[in-house]
Amino acid sequence: MERIVVVGAGHMGSVIVRGLLDGVPGVEVVVVEPSADRRRSPDARAELTSAYDPRPDDLLILAIPPQAFDSFADSLPPGACARATVVSIMAGVRLETLASALGTRTVLRAMPNLAARVGQSMTVLCPGDQVPRGGVERAKRALSVIGKVLVVQDESLLDAATAVAGSGPALVAYLARSFTDFARGAGFDAADALLLTSQVLRGTADVLAEPGVTPESLYQQASTPNGTTAKGIATLREHRVGESVGAALEATMERARELAG
Ligand SMILES: NC(=O)c1ccc[n+]([C@@H]2O[C@H](COP(=O)([O-])OP(=O)(O)OC[C@H]3O[C@@H](n4cnc5c(N)ncnc54)[C@H](OP(=O)(O)O)[C@@H]3O)[C@@H](O)[C@H]2O)c1
Repeated sequence: MERIVVVGAGHMGSVIVRGLLDGVPGVEVVVVEPSADRRRSPDARAELTSAYDPRPDDLLILAIPPQAFDSFADSLPPGACARATVVSIMAGVRLETLASALGTRTVLRAMPNLAARVGQSMTVLCPGDQVPRGGVERAKRALSVIGKVLVVQDESLLDAATAVAGSGPALVAYLARSFTDFARGAGFDAADALLLTSQVLRGTADVLAEPGVTPESLYQQASTPNGTTAKGIATLREHRVGESVGAALEATMERARELAG
């Protein structure tokens, strides 16, 4: 039976554990939590343990905070990860750092986002250059339980992915706030303002996912000359909103680079 070990059962780790148990038949899921006080399983079907007890061919998913990584790596017996496939979702911990601390070249980095909790993460996965195709497929299958997975070969793309996908839900939520504020100001109550906004975001996302649709084709199609939408888009242009959002993404990516060192 395939064994998947999740280290760190916080927000992300718990969602992954439940997704694996619900969505991947015939998998044994183990949760590692070193602290006795905090040791409780996010799901009764998962085995709970205080330390990683390696088995050949484990898929090890590291969902601990980046600042906990060094002590986790130091706590492992020598060679513990030598025959495992290791997937880290830790923000800003580079493949080279993972490989040298864990003593294996079979390492992958992934950047999920908080939509994982509703099964709608956009996760970008980057394998180290010595990960066999089967290891990439295995990691991709495991992470698919929290949403869509895009595999990239160039690790530097993960910094951009951190901006667009990792921080994306928060950045979009910031913009969504302008919609809810406006709707409330116009007289809708808070619940209805949120309903209007969230359904617009959901519907727009679904239309954008249709074949052949791009953001530009969508807003052009919706803008009849001199109509209401055209007026709104012209005002966004006038206020250079596109450039502002670009600058925010650039700054987010730069911060991701800085944190990764
Ligand atoms: N949340 C997101 O949207 C998101 C997005 C992209 C990437 N990530 C990455 O995902 C990772 C987890 O994020 P999170 O939001 O799930 O954080 P979290 O809720 O704080 O969860 C981290 C978990 O790891 C546990 N932990 C700490 N040290 C450990 C160790 N040595 N061994 C085993 N478990 C340990 C913590 O336990 P205690 O709380 O008991 O200390 C906690 O349960 C982070 O590296 C973050 O960068 C998160």
